[in-house]
Amino acid sequence: MLDRIHTVKEIALKELEGVADQELLQAWRVKYLGRSAELGEILQGLKDLDSGQRPLVGREVNQAKAALEKAYESHEAELRIAALEQSLRYERLDVTLPGRPLPQGRLHPATQTLRRIYAIWAKMGFQVYRSREVETDEYNFELLNMPAHHPARDMWDTFHVTEPGILLRTHTSPGQIHVMRERAPEPIRVILPGMCYRYEQLTARSEIQFNQVEGLAVGRRITFADLKGTLTAFARRMFDRHVRTRFRAQHFPFTEPSAEMDIECFLCLGEGCGVCKYTGWLEILGCGMVHPTVLRNGGYDPEVFSGFAFGMGPERIAMLRYNIEDIRLFWGNDMRFLEQF
Ligand code: PHE
Repeated sequence: MLDRIHTVKEIALKELEGVADQELLQAWRVKYLGRSAELGEILQGLKDLDSGQRPLVGREVNQAKAALEKAYESHEAELRIAALEQSLRYERLDVTLPGRPLPQGRLHPATQTLRRIYAIWAKMGFQVYRSREVETDEYNFELLNMPAHHPARDMWDTFHVTEPGILLRTHTSPGQIHVMRERAPEPIRVILPGMCYRYEQLTARSEIQFNQVEGLAVGRRITFADLKGTLTAFARRMFDRHVRTRFRAQHFPFTEPSAEMDIECFLCLGEGCGVCKYTGWLEILGCGMVHPTVLRNGGYDPEVFSGFAFGMGPERIAMLRYNIEDIRLFWGNDMRFLEQF
């Protein structure tokens, strides 16, 4: 019996030497130290032995089990250390590597341009006034001095909805009437930004939706000199503090006189290049003195009050600034385009 115990112990220890991972180690443990292991069975059989042998065998079994437990513990520790060393060797971290950048969101180029425009006008005392995108024919045209069938309406190709007289605004100018009716007879200095819609063929130069920033100043003794000075001050803040501007006569039914403002081409500085189509100038906005009829429609007496208004396209300004050739890129949702800003 004692020989048997001795042999089992020797076999177990020998086998343990070859155990190379935790999984095999646990199997070994069950096999030699588990409840139905041979040493366990010998212990359970003690009661059948005669009393002379019992203490001898009992002590031997317990010693063998203790020896195996001890060998198990130290082998387990060895395996753990070996595994740690292995992972240190093969999975070494280079803590000096730069981290992986998180994808970062950003503002749409149209929004960036809009915010720049807001900031400049804010410093000149102009408040942002928000006005509706779904308009009536009355506000979009009639109150702006364009009765039905007026030929000037041809400048704006309109999206009508099925309800008669309701349309998507083709410009931000109807907002002029909304502010005036709300504020009359107080003086006004506001900009009116927002989305406009036109029924147009999609080309590199036109989109069916685009932003505009309208501006309106109404008060006593506002003159064309104020318009020129204020818009030139804006252009110098928006583009370059030395940029030259010029005003060309134009026609809008809701302003009189009307003009378009150009800035000197910032690419060729007036020399002539592809961006300015060899004119040396870039058209930036339409403007003019608020037409007496429009003032009256807004609730102001044109004998006492005067004002100027202007309208610019932020996408167009961004196109000039960044040399973007196709306006459709703004709403095409192409990340390759958007990520450049
Ligand atoms: N509403 C005009 C347009 O859409 C621009 C404009 C605004 C012109 C205000 C004069 C005054 O083209």
